[in-house]
Amino acid sequence: MFKRLQEKWGVSTRQFWILFIVFGLTGITTATLTRYITSWLGMDETSFWLWKLLLRVGMLLFGYQVILLSYGFLLGQWAFFWKYEKKLLFRLGFTSLAPKTTHTKPPTAIAIFASGAGSNARKIIEHLKGHVSIQVALIVCNKPGAGVLAIARTHQIPTLLIEKERFFKGDAYLAELQEHHIRFIVLAGFLWKVPDALIKAYPDKIINIHPALLPKYGGKGMYGMRVHEAVIAAGEKESGITIHYVNEHFDEGTPIFQARCPVAPGDTPEELAQKIHALEHRYFPEIVEKTVGN
Ligand code: GAR
Repeated sequence: MFKRLQEKWGVSTRQFWILFIVFGLTGITTATLTRYITSWLGMDETSFWLWKLLLRVGMLLFGYQVILLSYGFLLGQWAFFWKYEKKLLFRLGFTSLAPKTTHTKPPTAIAIFASGAGSNARKIIEHLKGHVSIQVALIVCNKPGAGVLAIARTHQIPTLLIEKERFFKGDAYLAELQEHHIRFIVLAGFLWKVPDALIKAYPDKIINIHPALLPKYGGKGMYGMRVHEAVIAAGEKESGITIHYVNEHFDEGTPIFQARCPVAPGDTPEELAQKIHALEHRYFPEIVEKTVGN
């Protein structure tokens, strides 16, 4: 039942639960306020029923909606609830607030580029499933048999297996990206450098995640376990993740977001990798959603 409602609203699972909380808080607040107002006006069982009815209808028609919008705004869901209110007001006869149905914008199609297991790709796909304005439309991979390809199959997302020669010396597979209407690219564990042709075709529309706090431990050859080994060898007390725009230089584009975690004495590279993955899974999907949505 929840799944059906979520699909109907066209929201991510996270957003769905926030909406639920907003509705819950609104219900509780409206009921409490109505009780306070009733006693403030000195109403009880002996009061004339019409006044009590008018008060309740007034609270439902006006108070509830204002409280709903307020909680929606506070929890970052203004757009959803304002659309909801406009629909309601339209039904109540405010025809100037007719929902715009003549032209619905298609969702922004994004491609995820990945070379390995694809745990980040999976988290992003799950986070954006059923999203109203963003769609993972293509998985691009440079390694036959990589785990990310199986993830794409499970979620019925088309895949594109790329080869070095055409990626670096040809058209960088722009034709296929355009065929899938790709407007944004997310690198989630993609280990090849992005060719200039692609960066020019997608200016400020390619983001990458790096498993360290850039500008430290970035650059050519710095990926996956190698990064964690270097961080531990240097005796760092903390590491983290960096999400950044991609430019012509390895790991040097404008940073978008960083998160940190401690490196405990005695941590192995594998243990640090686990901490970093936990950070990536927690933050990357949301940052992708925000950056693509902007
Ligand atoms: C991630 O930790 C990502 O930060 C890293 O590869 C891993 C891929 O894991 N990327 C780089 O090192 C890029 N320089 P995943 O395949 O499980 O998502």
